[in-house]
This record gives sequence, C-alpha cells and structure tokens, in this order.
Amino acid sequence: MGVKPQMGFNTWNKFGCNINEKLARDTAEAIVEAGLDKLGYVYLNLDDCWQVSRTNDSKIVVDPNTFPSGMKALADYVHSKGLLFGLYSDAGFYTCAGRPGSLGYEEIDAKTYAEWEVDYLKYDNCNDDKTPPEHRYPIMAKALQNSGRSIFFSMCEWGVNTPSDWARSVGNSWRTTYDILDNYPRMMSLAQENEKLWRRAGPGGWNDPDMLEVGNGGMTFEEYKTHFSLWCLMKAPLLIGCDLTKASAETLEILGNKEAIAVNQDALGVQGHRVWSDKGGNKEVDGDVPEGDFEVWAGPLMSGQVAVILLNKSDKPADITASFQDCGLRPNDKVEVRDLWTHKDIGSFTTTYTGKSIPSHGVQFLICTPVFE
Ligand code: GLA
Repeated sequence: MGVKPQMGFNTWNKFGCNINEKLARDTAEAIVEAGLDKLGYVYLNLDDCWQVSRTNDSKIVVDPNTFPSGMKALADYVHSKGLLFGLYSDAGFYTCAGRPGSLGYEEIDAKTYAEWEVDYLKYDNCNDDKTPPEHRYPIMAKALQNSGRSIFFSMCEWGVNTPSDWARSVGNSWRTTYDILDNYPRMMSLAQENEKLWRRAGPGGWNDPDMLEVGNGGMTFEEYKTHFSLWCLMKAPLLIGCDLTKASAETLEILGNKEAIAVNQDALGVQGHRVWSDKGGNKEVDGDVPEGDFEVWAGPLMSGQVAVILLNKSDKPADITASFQDCGLRPNDKVEVRDLWTHKDIGSFTTTYTGKSIPSHGVQFLICTPVFE
C-alpha cells in the first residue's frame, strides 16, 4: 500500500458537508468520462458528513437522507466504474463536522468498512480524548489490518505531533499541515511547511500538504499550475477537490498533465525540495535552503533525470536561473531541458538553465535529462 502517492477525488474542498450519493455517482462518471482514471486518479473518496449515528449494537449508521441506497451499493457502483472507494472517519468522539467518530469503535468500524468493500480511509483528529495521536492512530491501523480487507490508511492529524517522525509505520500518508484554502498565500504556505519534511517521504509513506484546490476558482491559471507542479514534485497525494461534473478545459489541462503526474508517481519516490533561493543561495540553514522570492526546487527520478521547478513568488515576471549542480546533476554534463507545461523540448544546456519571464506566482516545470557523451 502507498508504494506511490495516492491519486483520486475527495468531496471536502468543494462540497464540504453538502454531499450525497448522486454527487458521488456523478463524480465517478465524470472521472471516467474525462479519462482521469487512466491517468491514475482511481480513488473516489467521501469526506466528512456521510454518517449520522450508531445502532444499539454500535454499528455506524449512514445518513438515510443523503445516501438512501447505503454504502455497499455506492461502493459497488464506484467499483463497477473501475474505481476504488474511500470513506472518512475520526480518531475522536465526533468528526470535525460533529458526526460520530471512531474512537472506541475502531474494530467494529473497520469491519463495517470491509463489509462495504471500502478501499481507503481518511482518519481525522478532531474531538479526541486528549491522548496523543501516536496512541490513537495505531488502534485504527490495527483494526484495518484485522478487517480482512486491504484498506489504504490516510492519516489526517494536521502535522500537530510531528507525524513524519512516527506515522510511516502506522499509515500510508500523513497530513503535515492544517487545512488548505483556495487562495495562493495559503497554498504557498502549506507547500513551504511540507517542503521542509522532504527527507521523510518515500515509497510506503507520504507527506500530505492537503488536497488540491485546482478548479475551485480562488487562484489564477498560473497559480493553479504552480499548486499542481509543487504537489507533483513533492510526491504529495493528488486528490482532486473541485466539481468534476463542471470542470473547465483549463482545469482538466492542469489535472490531466501526464508529464507532471509521471513526476509525482515516479518509482524512486524522493520528494523534491528547494535547492536554491535568491535569499539563501544553495546553503542549507538547519537542513533547509531559506525561502526567497525566486526559488529553484528539484528532485531526482528513477531514470536518472531530474525534475526541476523554477518558482517566481514575487509580484512581477522574472528570469530565474537553475544551476544543474544545485539540482543534483553533474556540473559538466550536457543537459536536455523539457518544459512540462508547454510539452516542448527547450534545448541542451551546460552548467545552468535560465527560465525567462516566468509570470508572477508562476513556475516553469522542467525535466532535465543528462546526456552522457
Ligand atoms: C478537517 C480536515 C479536513 C476535512 C474536515 C472535515 O478540517 O483537516 O480535511 O476532512 O475536517 O470536517
């Protein structure tokens, strides 16, 4: 499980508590119609608000008004589309939206999910009993292991008790930040927090800076490309958070960028990170190159290529130069550079490459291929 970062859709960012079975079915259809499943987006995940109460024998009850056919029927439908099905619960008495949580009911809930043929659990951290998450999350992990079904475990503990230190042996991904919002400053601040933890990600366990806002309207086209590029390079889970039944061509162009997705899903699984900034050069301070207005991020790929992002955080267009050596390439090799947003080879370079007129809040997302002569 979690050999590569998970990809799919989650209801929360766009729909919040306003979810129902029709939305889930329509979204499953939209994923398949847009061909997103073929690109790897296979999980259809319901977030908070599908549950209402417990029966006398403690079994979780699905909201009969919004999910009248029940979860097994919905899981069957999602599976019939070739997708996988995910649910949400909480390591507390109540979920963040006040629905029943799983604390104390881990075994019975995990068995119920397995009965419904659920493939994925996002597990939140609200309304707990004041014991640390390091204690509460393994109880559900064990219950899932005992459930008789293989269920992806996505831990949503918001980075509060440094999950990157302990969560790898518990789940397949762990949130490293509080919630994303659909605006550039918030998205960028989560990217920066998550970046620092790059050494902790790898096959089997991923840093999760929260789900995608691409397509929700609060950022520009350039900003959404930046958001998606950073999430791809950082090996973050790619969980679509917009209304896919109404997605624009621009939104699908971003979410459907195969070359960017290939970076995210690369088998080496090394999280890309900042290797240079105009403020800090290439020198690490406390294990991290300090932030700047202009930054170069890089990460190696299984092929020996390197994925690179030239990031312009300033409010004006800028030229940004990457030194190949900073990016982990050998300084004297000839390097072929390809642009992952224009899908064009730019040319061959030695020592450095300069991206010209990168828009404010924008990126150039590149693949650098060393040519051994
Ligand atoms: C928390 C999580 C969010 C979402 C909501 C649901 O805030 O961090 O991702 O799941 O709860 O209530």
